[in-house]
Parts: sequence; C-alpha cells; structure tokens
Amino acid sequence: MATRAVLFRRSRNKVKISGHCDVIVEDMMMTTVDQSIATWVPGPILGIETSCDETAASVLAADGTVLSNIITSQHAVHRRFGGVVPELASRAHIESIEEVSSEAVQQSRLAWSDRTGIAVTQGPGLAGALLVGVNYAKALAYVLNIPMVGVSHLEGHIASAWLKDPAFPLPCVVLIVSGGHTHLYYKEMTGHYRLLGSTRDDAAGEAFDKGAQLLGLEYPGGPAIDRLARQGNPQAIIFPRSYLKNGSLDFSFSGLKTALLYKLQVMPERSRAAQVADLAAGYQEAIVDVLVQKSFAAVRTSGARALAVVGGVSANSRLRALLQQRAASEGLQLSLPPLAYCTDNAAMIAAAGRQALLAGLRAPLDIDAQASRVSSFTHAM
Ligand code: KG4
Ligand code: ZN
Repeated sequence: MATRAVLFRRSRNKVKISGHCDVIVEDMMMTTVDQSIATWVPGPILGIETSCDETAASVLAADGTVLSNIITSQHAVHRRFGGVVPELASRAHIESIEEVSSEAVQQSRLAWSDRTGIAVTQGPGLAGALLVGVNYAKALAYVLNIPMVGVSHLEGHIASAWLKDPAFPLPCVVLIVSGGHTHLYYKEMTGHYRLLGSTRDDAAGEAFDKGAQLLGLEYPGGPAIDRLARQGNPQAIIFPRSYLKNGSLDFSFSGLKTALLYKLQVMPERSRAAQVADLAAGYQEAIVDVLVQKSFAAVRTSGARALAVVGGVSANSRLRALLQQRAASEGLQLSLPPLAYCTDNAAMIAAAGRQALLAGLRAPLDIDAQASRVSSFTHAM
C-alpha cells in the first residue's frame, strides 16, 4: 500500500490570460514521489463529512453513483448564538456520527463489509469537528481493513459539480462560494487546479450571514435572506458592487456589509421594518451580481468550455436564476449541483475520495485533521 505518495507543488505567478488581464495564478500539482501507486479495485465507498456544523455520511457505488446521502444539521444547536460554536459542534458530531453513518449504509442497501474504501474530510474546517470524522474514519478503516483517504473539503465541493453529470466538460471554471471561501478555479483535469481569484476579505456566505444578522434574521443567514428577498424589489435599494481593479477576478464583500450597516443606522425603526424585504433583495443582488459577472469574466479570459458553481451559496435561488439565464444566452454549459449537494454533504467527499483512491492515494492511520489546509487539494498521504 502506498503511503505519503503525493506531494503538492504550489507556485504563485502573475500571468496574462488571453492577453486581457493580469491574474494571480496558483498552480497545484499532484506529483507522485518514491512510492508505487497502489491499485484499488473500485467498489462502494463511504464518505464522511464533519468539518463544520453538518454531520454527513454517504455511500457511492463502484461507478460513482450516489446510493445514499445523509445529512444532520446542527443549526438548531447554534441558532441562539448567531453562528457556529466550535465546542458544541464537536460534541454534536460525536453524538450523531454513528447514527448518520449507519443510516447511510442502511439506505445504500449494502452491508458494512461491502465497502472497499473510506473518504473523510481532513480540512479545512474546525479542528475539533474535523477530528471527530477523521478518528471515526480511522477506526472504521482499521476494523474493516480497507483503505482510507483524507480529502480537502474544497476538493469535495468541486467534485459535487460532477456528481449528477460525470461527463460535464473540462476545462472548466469552478466558482466555490461557501461560508469560508469564494474562490475561482480553472480546472483542467482531476488534481490540476489554477486559482484565478479569491476573496480579499469576507467570503460570499459570510457576507450573507453577517448581512442577515444586521437585518435581524435567523442563522444561517443565507437561506433567510434568500427567502425574504423573494418578497422584495432588488432595485428599490441599491448597494455598492465591488469589482476591484479592472479585470480583477478577486472579490471583496466587507464594504457591502458596512454599506448595509450605514443604511440601517440612518433609517427610522418603522421604515426599516417596512423595507426589510427590499433591503434583503438589494443586498443579495449586490452579492450575486458580482459573483455572476466575475464567473463569466473568468470563463471568457481563461478560454474554459464550461462553468460550475458549487458550495452553500450556490443554493441561492437568485444566483441560480441569473447564472442559468446568462449561460443560456451565451450558450455556455453550466453545472449547478442539486440543492442536496450544494451545502455541506458527504456525497461530494466520497466523490473526491473516489478520485483520490483511483489515483492511488492512501492515508496512513496516523493522519491528523488539518484545520487550516485551505489552498491545497487532496492531501499528501
Ligand atoms: O458549503 P457550506 O454548507 O459550508 C461551508 O463550507 O462554509 O456553505 C454554508 C454557507 C453559509 O454561509 C450559508 O449562509 C450559505 O452557505 N447558504 C446560502 C444559501 N444556503 C446556504 N447563501 C445564500 N442563499 C442560500 N440559499
Ligand atoms: Zn462547505
């Protein structure tokens, strides 16, 4: 069995894409070193995800079809605190991981012993929360005597774009929009990603969550703003869009949150209540407008054939509608995962793990959670 078989090389260069603009490009390459690639006969895989506030398990069939996708959300635990409390998240994962995993196996109509591999989120995420999944996966891998791989949560989100349509074309621009990330990648093939742009401050999901908090909406803020905005007029109250310098594929959302704060400060209490749906709609529009513009600019300048938008914020109904309209008018292929694969889930982790196992990666039983592993993909194992 191969161990520590893969090394990531990263370089950060300023390059010109199609002569249009300077962009920062980060290369992430998987390179096999001094170990042979262990063969893995594809079979059913169990995926486990515990990086934040969802405990999730999923079983994929040998051909990558999703057989089960179980998600237990901790929103009720964290709601009264207005955000995720790490210690409570870890405890809640411990309480539900066994049940969630058993349910995933049961729904797949396979036996525990049919599994041939385990994929677990190794990072990025909350250290204590990740540890629960990683240790559970290690115990299972040991008991069942099957290989396991540690998967980057980001690579999981990217893999979600191919879950429904494995033939979705490459090269492709992938926008990851979640609570922690707003990253634009150029994906040429599995394991090869170039970072085209990312947020310089808040992630898009964070902008939704903080905006919702200012508007007095419940946690998590993204779905709350999405629902309320449907009753509002996105043109009634205009919020600033931050495009940064001409041609930049980076994002910035912190000014938007400040703009909302200032608007609320000068609004009398009564008109605030009367206009809350318009505020939500205008605020949401400013976020999704920039996401759509920059995603299509990335496709244009990189010469990609397709666009995939993944992560929790890709569940946003206004973002989905605008992306679909624009893709249709430009004749571009668009992958928007079904809602169950947008927010955190384990089917995406199992899918990324399946690719890693096929590439010969194996995690030793002493792997650790890697809370701040943000920019590299499937880990050195
Ligand atoms: O991918 P995800 O479940 O977890 C992370 O990896 O962060 O994303 C969670 C984020 C939260 O910020 C949440 O408010 C946002 O996704 N979100 C949404 C919607 N559903 C979830 N944002 C806008 N509209 C939605 N419908
Ligand atoms: Zn996520």
